[in-house]
Amino acid sequence: MQKKITILGIESSCDDTSAAVVCNEVEQSNVIASQDVHITYGGVVPELASRAHLQNIIPVVDTAIKKAEIHISQIDGIAFTRGPGLLGSLLVGTSFAKALALSLHKPLIEVNHLQGHVLSHFLKQDQNTQQPKFPFLCMLVSGGHTEIIIVKDYFKMQSIGKTIDDAAGEAFDKCAKVMGLPYPGGPYIDKLAAKGNPNTYKFNKPNIPDFNFSFSGLKTSFLYFLRDRLKEDANFIELHKNDLCASLQSTIIEILLDKLIKASNHTGIKEIALSGGVAANSGLSKTLLDAGEQRQWIVHIPKPKYTTDNAAMIAIAGYYKYLRNEFATQDTTPLARFEIATNPI
Ligand code: KG4
Ligand code: ZN
Repeated sequence: MQKKITILGIESSCDDTSAAVVCNEVEQSNVIASQDVHITYGGVVPELASRAHLQNIIPVVDTAIKKAEIHISQIDGIAFTRGPGLLGSLLVGTSFAKALALSLHKPLIEVNHLQGHVLSHFLKQDQNTQQPKFPFLCMLVSGGHTEIIIVKDYFKMQSIGKTIDDAAGEAFDKCAKVMGLPYPGGPYIDKLAAKGNPNTYKFNKPNIPDFNFSFSGLKTSFLYFLRDRLKEDANFIELHKNDLCASLQSTIIEILLDKLIKASNHTGIKEIALSGGVAANSGLSKTLLDAGEQRQWIVHIPKPKYTTDNAAMIAIAGYYKYLRNEFATQDTTPLARFEIATNPI
């Protein structure tokens, strides 16, 4: 019988404090405390994020252990997000994980947050969970990252293209802010877009070489478009919000899909996975499934709870490192920048 390995995961890279317990590849608990403090500011305030992590971390870890119905002594290893992210936020999770590992005499495991997003696809929900087969292409789309990664093995990943400015999630959030929607705006645009016509307005798509992305031009043209329309009609946004959201969302999806199709054609890889907060977008998953059907792709879309930041993805990445005896030392420090190896293909 396979030995049971229990990993506690801790995630604190941005504005969600999360702790999870994973036994082999199965989630036992996944607790997330989101920080509402940032809503007032329309974006994450780093100093406030670290203070909130400090308040949340002990109750969140405690709840995760209780929900998993284990005793703390049953944990085999403690995995934490080393980076990339906000340094003050990462410091809270890293320090907590180190202290816990020291006091329990358990191994410490560092995890790259981006690799965590990719490996979230291996969390088994039930018997029917289809884990991706190597090599696969993962499009990681979140509030901080937009990149296409060739995943050759659990930790053999090669980033082949990324955004040169804003991330896809940032484009959603910034455009939502211009329309007066709350932060983070991605889920609001998603909901309103479902009621609108995506062909109402046309926004320019960037012309960026290779597999790289750019979203800052779209954000600017959206801003200028609204400024001009508002001069003619002060109620323009209110009257056309659904069509605006649908048109903007479909442009973002087209930008993402164009590059993914190009990457699949270039590499010949037809096993495709979507990760990160923007993977929760209903328009994106639908378009990807349709595109996949036409191209005989095997498409993997994570459950919504595994798209946005969560510690279950950190715990499963930690589990694979535990199996490889890859442990961190007590002098490990967090990294604000922590990239996946970038090599041209
Ligand atoms: O992965 P994540 O939780 O944090 C980062 O690592 O950045 O992603 C957060 C991002 C935000 O920009 C948020 O607006 C976006 O994911 N997001 C969405 C949706 N749900 C979350 N964007 C579009 N549609 C959604 N349904
Ligand atoms: Zn993330």
